[in-house]
Amino acid sequence: MEQPKRKYRSSVQLQFAAYFAVLTIVLLALLNTYPLRASRDVVFSEKESSLMNRASVVSSSLALLDQITADNTRQVIGLLDVNNLDRVLVTDEAGKAIYDTAEGGEIPNEIARALKGEAVFTSKFDMEAFQSGAAVPVRSGGKTIGTVYIAEYDAEQAAIIVGIQHRLSTISITVALLALVIIFFSIRMMTRRITQLADGVRTVQSGDYSFRLELSGNDELTELGSELNHLTERLETTEAQRRQFVSDASHELKTPLASIRLLSDSIVQDTDMDSATMREFVTDIGTEAERLQRTTEKLLNLSRRDDGVQGELQNVDLRKAVEGTHRLLAPLAEASHITIHSQLDEGCFVRATEDDIYHIVFNLVENAIKYNLATGSVTVKVFREADKCLLTVEDTGIGIPEQDQPNIFGRFYRVDKARSREHGGSGLGLSIVHDAVTLYGGTIAVESVEPHGSKFTVTFPAAESESIESESAE
Ligand SMILES: Nc1ncnc2c1ncn2[C@@H]1O[C@H](COP(=O)(O)OP(=O)(O)OP(=O)(O)O)[C@@H](O)[C@H]1O
Ligand SMILES: [Mg+2]
Repeated sequence: MEQPKRKYRSSVQLQFAAYFAVLTIVLLALLNTYPLRASRDVVFSEKESSLMNRASVVSSSLALLDQITADNTRQVIGLLDVNNLDRVLVTDEAGKAIYDTAEGGEIPNEIARALKGEAVFTSKFDMEAFQSGAAVPVRSGGKTIGTVYIAEYDAEQAAIIVGIQHRLSTISITVALLALVIIFFSIRMMTRRITQLADGVRTVQSGDYSFRLELSGNDELTELGSELNHLTERLETTEAQRRQFVSDASHELKTPLASIRLLSDSIVQDTDMDSATMREFVTDIGTEAERLQRTTEKLLNLSRRDDGVQGELQNVDLRKAVEGTHRLLAPLAEASHITIHSQLDEGCFVRATEDDIYHIVFNLVENAIKYNLATGSVTVKVFREADKCLLTVEDTGIGIPEQDQPNIFGRFYRVDKARSREHGGSGLGLSIVHDAVTLYGGTIAVESVEPHGSKFTVTFPAAESESIESESAE
């Protein structure tokens, strides 16, 4: 149990940590490189335009001379504002230095390209300074008579950029540390809650359906926790119902079996039993066996219905179904001197299986006879109301106490056990009726005023006509 728990926790933590780490690294990398590059590029282009301009001014001033010599070059340059440049180099058309403020300095490569007529600019930034150079040809009468090269070493702007970079690095480190702390705590909090959920699922899985998660917050994890609580609640109810059902069913089967056992033992042990008594005992055994058979048939009916519709769906005529059950129940009604009245409208069709409609009508009318008073009556009505088909079964019987009314559709529930048993009842009839009615989208309601009788009203969605072709239920 412990092993998967740890594995689960660490993998979620690792995943989150990896996502956040990648995100932080990308953000910090961008923060540290992009502004630096952008400001460096701005300085480069500002340097290019300024140096190229100044080199061009020197070049056009020299182009006015007939011939470039060291003397006249010095004079021309003396008139121009070039003092703040680090190097001014003037060459002749062969690339030989005529004037150079950095005496003995190397001839830069740019000169060769300028001699070919190109205006060349180069600049580099090495964290200490911007070293920039511009070389332009000196052209006179359509000929290149020399070149001008100027260079600048700018440590000030470099210092500003380096300063910005330092500040960005400090901010980045602070942000990274802050993000690390926040990430650590949020991941811990989230994984703790996920672990709580997982522990909850494990507890429920182990069979403790009374377990409920304590919920706080208002996010998706809370929603998930609340769904788990609902699920557990349903499992708890279902489990309680299952236990109750098994216990009720065993009890229901136990009683007739015990009677059969007792009666058969009596026959076996009493060797002198006269044939009349023996006949009576065997008849009782038969009655109990019949009760067992009825109960098991009803249990089977209920368990099959749990799997959905069983059989062929058709548009069943409620009127015909009621007439059919009347014929079957007439002997039972006659025996108790009960009259059955019916008012059955035509055109009330319900999309269902014939068997289920038969069970619904039969159980309701049978109850109305069984729980009636001698010489009482039962009234069955079938009629349409808008897009609904209604079936009402009303009796003048003993009625159902108000506190029992919500329970009578439960399995094995009987208001008066003794009276129900007298009629061989098992308390499953209304349960079957309720499940079948619900299966076809209908509702069932009971009204009863003790001791004036009961009225059951079943409402079904009406099927349009008899002619719809029947289809097989899956
Ligand atoms: N019309 C009625 N009048 C008075 N009580 C009723 C009526 N219908 C049902 N009941 C009460 O509701 C209980 C449940 O009825 P239900 O039909 O489920 O079981 P049952 O008739 O006892 O047995 P079964 O129908 O399985 O043979 C009955 O035991 C009875 O107490
Ligand atoms: Mg019944």
